[in-house]
Amino acid sequence: MTVSKRIVLSSDHAAIPLRQAIAAHITAQGWEAVDIGPTTPESTHYPKHGAAAARKVASGDCRLGIILCGTGQGIMMAANKVPGIRCGVCSDTFSAKMIRAHNDAQILSIGARVVGEGLALEIVDAFLNTEFEGGRHATRVDMIEAPEAE
Ligand code: RB5
Repeated sequence: MTVSKRIVLSSDHAAIPLRQAIAAHITAQGWEAVDIGPTTPESTHYPKHGAAAARKVASGDCRLGIILCGTGQGIMMAANKVPGIRCGVCSDTFSAKMIRAHNDAQILSIGARVVGEGLALEIVDAFLNTEFEGGRHATRVDMIEAPEAE
């Protein structure tokens, strides 16, 4: 499958069942889910899973990513430390559309202890089915990236 359909997924221990439900959901829609785990429920450290997913996107191996932890916040912070990555936490579908349309976020973060599965799947659909609008938003995305060059 082409890179354009490859979506990396990762989480910490707090979000394994939801991550697996999302993987099945997007696979059924024709996306290629590159699920990099973990698969066992032992307590683990969300920063390494966020960074691992972000590197898959930054390297070009996957076009987009979906990451999860209890709140979605910690793993989002870790992913955003990888140069070139823009990741937002979403608990609603409007924000999930807008982080693609205006912010060109490549990675969506979800809190498995914040939203239920039904809403999470709708958030995922909103994210994956929205494209970046470019134009004035491209200028602003460039401005987000600028501090990385300082
Ligand atoms: C793990 O207990 C929890 O801290 C983690 O899943 C996440 O919510 C951190 O931001």
